Amino acid sequence: MPRRELRFLRRGRVISLSGFAPTTTVLDWLRLDERSTGTKEGCAEGDCGACTIVVARLRDGQLVHEPINACIALLASLDGAELITVEDLADGDTLHPVQEAMVKHHGAQCGFCTPGIVMSLFALHHAHEGEIDRARVETALAGNLCRCTGYKPIIAAALEGCARPADDVFARSASTRMAALAELDDGRSLFVGDEDRFFAAPATVDGLAELVLRYPDAQLVAGATDVGLWMTKGLRRFDRMISVQRVTELTHLETDDEEIRIGAAVSLAAAASVLGDLDDDLATMLARFGSQQIRAAGTVGGNIGNGSPIGDLAPCLIALGAILELRRGDRIRTLPLEDFFLAYRKQDREPGEFITRIIVPRPGPQDLIRVTKISKRRDEDISAMLMALRLTVDEGRIATARLAFGGMAGIPCRAPAAEDVLKGHVLADAALWRRAAAALAEDLQPLSDLRASADYRMQVAQNAVIKALAEMAGIPSHITRIVPRREVHHV
Ligand SMILES: Cc1cc2nc3c(=O)[nH]c(=O)nc-3n(C[C@H](O)[C@H](O)[C@H](O)COP(=O)(O)OP(=O)(O)OC[C@H]3O[C@@H](n4cnc5c(N)ncnc54)[C@H](O)[C@@H]3O)c2cc1C
Ligand code: FES
Ligand code: FES
Repeated sequence: MPRRELRFLRRGRVISLSGFAPTTTVLDWLRLDERSTGTKEGCAEGDCGACTIVVARLRDGQLVHEPINACIALLASLDGAELITVEDLADGDTLHPVQEAMVKHHGAQCGFCTPGIVMSLFALHHAHEGEIDRARVETALAGNLCRCTGYKPIIAAALEGCARPADDVFARSASTRMAALAELDDGRSLFVGDEDRFFAAPATVDGLAELVLRYPDAQLVAGATDVGLWMTKGLRRFDRMISVQRVTELTHLETDDEEIRIGAAVSLAAAASVLGDLDDDLATMLARFGSQQIRAAGTVGGNIGNGSPIGDLAPCLIALGAILELRRGDRIRTLPLEDFFLAYRKQDREPGEFITRIIVPRPGPQDLIRVTKISKRRDEDISAMLMALRLTVDEGRIATARLAFGGMAGIPCRAPAAEDVLKGHVLADAALWRRAAAALAEDLQPLSDLRASADYRMQVAQNAVIKALAEMAGIPSHITRIVPRREVHHV
């Protein structure tokens, strides 16, 4: 029997809830029910970070503190976790070290962004051992906008407040908190509500398959970094929601010499730690995927499942030759990832079917990879164009080529004409690079929209291909880039 109430840890107590709408966000609950108004609502779409909270969980036996955007996080996603907000940090009259540093360095003016910034710094405070540097602080704060103070004092506060390993009330009570979290983890499925209106979070993949088949119209959800916006900005209401996030099998990330198998519910942050090791460009792209808050909540399956033509992972995984695994009832099938995307927002997925895994063949010593993401801002921005290229090169000749794009069509797609130009030819031939770039005009018909014009997209895609091929042929990246490869900060 599933558990009929949501349970999470708050200020040392277990909170049990059952009478809430499936679409209730953590922010709604905090501000409207608990009346903890320290956590602010700015954009309500995961961009500004004013609503940042920290969710502590046990992951592989370790206590982790993840910054999350409360405005788009579903209340029910807190099941089995500990919720920490800005009100909880001070120890009586003694401010937390990150709060103290913010005061000392004058890190706030109007103060609206400050609770979110403090919570991101609190997560950073608990995330590292030893010294942190400016790059690490910038990564931690990429999802927090401050309109009036400016970042210089905030970064100074971060460097001071996070300088030492955590030694606060939370660190001192870690073992008690871990024991409480372990006790909450009963391994049971969750079903809150009734047939007409519910939030369900099965604990097993069999349970998920059964439920999705029984309620094919229910809204499937993972980290809700897309679905949350459909609620807060699209004003959509979902009466039935099924979460994949508690399904143990879908949270597995397995690697061996042959392949990387990524469960659909693996977070972008966890996937980044493995995919980022394959290549520096992939690591850089993943470090620029949304913000730390988005990468902590968002999942690999969600990025593919939403079918967005500008999703960043799909073109990278297509270039790597990834296989998608889907399940409906007892039937499991696989297909090359590129075949999953049929037309704008239309995927090869039947009602009652869901993504279970993404299987990525591990690149070999002859494989070269390049990824270019073009967006208006470095961090926290959706791509105007993303190019991913993988070549297998044998004695200077291109044996195989997989070239994929985001933002260049209604779906993430390959560029077969350009791939054909490359195959079998000598990589070092500069004329070949230009022929491959020109062939993109046959493959792609980009649109003009608010992010970029069609002409710009085509030009930048062609330039990215030429640059990638030039680098692969041996031109050093300090000539082709402002920040050379390998010196880029990793996730
Ligand atoms: C501020 C912000 C910044 C962002 N930046 C980026 C960015 O830089 N690059 C980028 O690509 N995206 C970005 N996104 C979009 C989003 O974060 C990603 O698409 C993310 O991977 C979605 O994962 P999720 O788990 O949150 O999906 P959800 O929102 O939970 O679900 C998204 C869709 O996938 C479906 N789905 C989820 N799991 C499965 C499954 N197992 N099987 C089938 N369908 C499933 C859901 O039904 C839904 O249709 C950003 C979003 C925000 C709010
Ligand atoms: S309110 Fe802006 S990110 Fe949540
Ligand atoms: S202090 Fe005003 S927005 Fe940051």
